[in-house]
Amino acid sequence: GRPDPCTVVLFGATGDLAERKLFPALFELARANLLPDHFSVVAYSRSALNADSFREDVKKGLQKFARTQPLDEDTWKRFAPRLEVVSGAYDDPASFARLKQKLDEVSQRHQTEGNQLYYLATPASTFPKILHGLAGAGLLPRQEQPHQKPWRRLVIEKPFGHDLESARELNRELSAVMDERQIFRIDHYLGKETVQNILVFRFANAIFEPLWNRQHIDHVEITAAEKIGVEGRGGFYDETGVIRDMVQNHLLQVLALCAMEPPVSFGAEDIRDEKNKVFRALRPLEGRDVAQAVVVGQYEGYRQEKGVKPDSRTPTYVAMKMNVDSWRWQGVPFYLRAGKHLKERVTEVSIHFKSVPVGLFAGEGATCQRLQPNVLTLRIQPKEGIALSFESKVPGEDVSIAGVTMDFNYAESFQKPVPEAYERLLLDCMRGNATLFARQDSVEQAWAYVTPILQALESGVGGQVHSYAPGSPGPDAAAALLARDGRRWTRL
Ligand code: BG6
Repeated sequence: GRPDPCTVVLFGATGDLAERKLFPALFELARANLLPDHFSVVAYSRSALNADSFREDVKKGLQKFARTQPLDEDTWKRFAPRLEVVSGAYDDPASFARLKQKLDEVSQRHQTEGNQLYYLATPASTFPKILHGLAGAGLLPRQEQPHQKPWRRLVIEKPFGHDLESARELNRELSAVMDERQIFRIDHYLGKETVQNILVFRFANAIFEPLWNRQHIDHVEITAAEKIGVEGRGGFYDETGVIRDMVQNHLLQVLALCAMEPPVSFGAEDIRDEKNKVFRALRPLEGRDVAQAVVVGQYEGYRQEKGVKPDSRTPTYVAMKMNVDSWRWQGVPFYLRAGKHLKERVTEVSIHFKSVPVGLFAGEGATCQRLQPNVLTLRIQPKEGIALSFESKVPGEDVSIAGVTMDFNYAESFQKPVPEAYERLLLDCMRGNATLFARQDSVEQAWAYVTPILQALESGVGGQVHSYAPGSPGPDAAAALLARDGRRWTRL
């Protein structure tokens, strides 16, 4: 249903994320009539902002980044008056007192009933200051009751810490001022339609789940390959690297959705409990074992990017072999890959089934090739869809066999555009539905898994950083990682 009347207070409103993702998502929600009737956005900025010129800037951003182009002028006429501004510092109680005053006014003017969503689209280093400022002004009181009104919620963007220790510290700071139910940690992968569909595919169909285990599955591949490089974010990226940027959050979340047990219900806590069990079952990798199971790479030319140290060892690529030590998955490796400046942009999960027990057709004439095991591919992006490969007889007099696919394609089956992740996620925060957000315990579990890997890599015992050519499939060592197990990556 429609969310409650509310005000979104946006920190970092003049930043990149706001321009590319947040305003376009809010605008699209307005266009689709999904925002509450009584709604406003208060942009909090450290630079002196004038409401009219801010609205003009937002409009220019929308003309570039809104999902539906050309920009819908009628929606803009309704949307623009809801944008309000406040200027202030992050570490100054007087600024937060001004924000409070502004929010009282806005709440009256737009009849938003005092419900407030604080969105921190700012660097992680600012979180403690902003939290402190909000709490000091009494803007973010702890709410123990699930349906308390007016509600106050906080949205934060990754990185949720830099390692296990700093993640715990951030969680301590958050839980010192508010209840876990008020906190929404965005992992935009969870808002992608195709990622949400993983659970529907598994648990709304009866035929796949009986096969979804070590008896029938040989291995699982999860790939997130990007064509772009660090895109002007060199300074941030060089401190981060691909494991913190993509694996700790997005890819482990996808892995958890693929590997989890059926939840007791589709409620937020039940789903998040099951995902957390997967994180707890990940077989730890540390010290010299990291060199065996993890391959890292850096694209040629990375060290010349702006903001990157000339002798940087930060990986822009990773391929790793993981194990989930559970009854369902014992002995089934999960191979994960992520990287920048690769040959193609593709994010997908492929489930490789076991081979048939007896090769009935072997030696049935020269045209009979080796049978390929079935592969189920969940195409997260682009060309969103799901494909199942299987073997088929090629029409003709002899028994010749070839691989074919059954293919479901979102664009063809639904004939409507797939919404952007941020549209769904913003709507869910306003509705108070936390299912698609990362919970404190799983954030810490995911850090507990990757921190020893990062330590081994950063200290050098975890193996070397291979270089790879931009536009290539990644370092050769990644192919060798699977070849050792007698396997190959499906693509790239
Ligand atoms: C972000 C990372 O979280 O995800 C970026 O910080 C990365 O480095 C992006 O490019 C990938 O998202 P998507 O939606 O394009 O797959």
